[in-house]
Amino acid sequence: MRLENKTIIVTGSGRGIGKFIAKRLGKEGANIVVTGRTESDIEKVCNEINDDGGRAIFIKGDVTSEEDVRDVINKTIEKFGRIDVLVNNAGAGLRKLLWETRVEEFEEIMDVNVKGVFLYMKNIIPKMKEGLIINISSGAGKAGIPTLSVYCASKFAVIGLTEAAAGEVGRNIKFVALCPGSVNTGMFKRMFPGEKADLEPEEVAEKVADICIHQGKYRSGESIEIY
Ligand SMILES: NC(=O)c1ccc[n+]([C@@H]2O[C@H](COP(=O)([O-])OP(=O)(O)OC[C@H]3O[C@@H](n4cnc5c(N)ncnc54)[C@H](OP(=O)(O)O)[C@@H]3O)[C@@H](O)[C@H]2O)c1
Repeated sequence: MRLENKTIIVTGSGRGIGKFIAKRLGKEGANIVVTGRTESDIEKVCNEINDDGGRAIFIKGDVTSEEDVRDVINKTIEKFGRIDVLVNNAGAGLRKLLWETRVEEFEEIMDVNVKGVFLYMKNIIPKMKEGLIINISSGAGKAGIPTLSVYCASKFAVIGLTEAAAGEVGRNIKFVALCPGSVNTGMFKRMFPGEKADLEPEEVAEKVADICIHQGKYRSGESIEIY
């Protein structure tokens, strides 16, 4: 129970990597806020954490809506008094040749993967006296990958936000970008049907737990790749 009394918001935690992160951190005794757009999913994960002896609540929210983001932050503070860790995990994938990508598809990826991270950072930094913000980027945020141009652009942007914020916030908030290789989730299966992923979601959740528990091992602004 190494995260007892810590309050942690995990975005996009109704399924995929986020679900495993929320459950893993819940096992360490943290107060977990499970959030996403699909109420049945976030309610289920919340119940699973509580049934396992943890302490979780669920709050429905779309990361692309500033009203929703503020609502999640405010309700978390009302319930638990403060926020210690934010995991910006919610994301959307797209595998398409650049010139075949529609503007609406570009906008959707940028809205979820970049604006969503921006909105959470913008609204939470002033409310955190000290803490940790982990932004889930990707190996696709470190190198351009054919057929993933727009997704790569969005994940490079997440690293930019992380590094710049680390320089701007001269207080006790640590910023880390986590860049996993491919992970066996619904997103990967939709984008790469029939292929084998580098990682299981539990492995990403384990790394997130390590960053939360052993913050001193990590430098603010750092991008950590795992494969
Ligand atoms: N899978 C991989 O190979 C891989 C590799 C590296 C990095 N990543 C990154 O890891 C993160 C999680 O990916 P995943 O593979 O777990 O994807 P996933 O299985 O598709 O899950 C995505 C999660 O994000 C939520 N979400 C999507 N749009 C949202 C929005 N507008 N507002 C709030 N929540 C939203 C979804 O819930 P709702 O739809 O219910 O809102 C869901 O919980 C993403 O940032 C992804 O880019 C994935």
